[in-house]
Amino acid sequence: MSNLQLDWTAEEILADDRVDDPLVVRDVVCHGGYVHGAYVSPRSRFRRDAIDAWQQHHRETFGVDVREAPLDVFPGHYPSLEQAQFLLDHDVREPIVGILTRVGTVEGYGGAIRELTPRGDVQRFFVEDVRGTATAHLAAGLLEAHARDESGWDTQAGHDRMWYAVRDIAFENPLDRETEADLRAVIDRAALSVPTAMGMPERRFDKLDPNFDALVTFMTRVLFIEVRAFHAFAWAEALLADADRVAGDGEAARLVSYIRQDESPHVGYLRTALSEMRERTFIGDGGVRYAGSDVIDSIWDSCLAESLGMGDRRNRAIAEALLDHALADRPDGREVREEFDRIGNNA
Ligand SMILES: [Fe+2]
Ligand SMILES: [Fe+2]
Repeated sequence: MSNLQLDWTAEEILADDRVDDPLVVRDVVCHGGYVHGAYVSPRSRFRRDAIDAWQQHHRETFGVDVREAPLDVFPGHYPSLEQAQFLLDHDVREPIVGILTRVGTVEGYGGAIRELTPRGDVQRFFVEDVRGTATAHLAAGLLEAHARDESGWDTQAGHDRMWYAVRDIAFENPLDRETEADLRAVIDRAALSVPTAMGMPERRFDKLDPNFDALVTFMTRVLFIEVRAFHAFAWAEALLADADRVAGDGEAARLVSYIRQDESPHVGYLRTALSEMRERTFIGDGGVRYAGSDVIDSIWDSCLAESLGMGDRRNRAIAEALLDHALADRPDGREVREEFDRIGNNA
């Protein structure tokens, strides 16, 4: 066994690196900052090292790697980069403005992960030792750090407000109170037209502690949301880096690149903890035992199917509703839509 530091306090997991300057965007102080001009993510003084150490410990203990996040199975972003560029070239900005608003909103929902923080020692849910794992640190800073990154903390803005800033830089404050309410209504109606993902999948392991089961399911869902977001964020960064099509001289894209950098510990700890649980044995009510691979694979498979099915349908429904809304009053709306579809079909 190598000499890894596997035990960290919540204060350490939540600790910021020292920065020369904070990240300030349009007078809003955001999390993170700069060291010698390079962006440093928030709460990363020890968090990344801790995740790396837990991953290595997992490999040394079980001889298997931490499970990869399945990036390839998720489709590329809709609308595609070419379709989005085409829209901007025809001054159809509202769907892009709407998508960036939606991304900010969904980021803000991420703060809810702290509500599921397990109470008491999670060791009671496992046969094997969980000391020195990401699993054992979920309540010791990991879920809280994730929540703070997504929805902000104290006076610092998190990803939700950072995305709104991205939108407002790239499209020069495109929304006032009224147009924002309209746009959000279009988005919410479309999102609600696809059944919600928040119901629990059928509980096959019904002796498991329901709160812990809910946490594991939520973590798996969030992992897939994060993986899907990888495509969306890469799309946004490429689209917004284009100074001929959007305002801000690349500042919006730079901000997206910072957000992307902040996301990597989320995917990191989630896949680490789920992999750790998979190699262990769960203990339920009355001492009932379930193989970790049964529990995790079952939750993984159903959340992945849900994300690829309903998650995709919802994203498409929102994009379609935004497009319809933007094109409805345009005399050339029909031609723009046909060309937009043709670009999509040629991809
Ligand atoms: Fe985020
Ligand atoms: Fe995230």
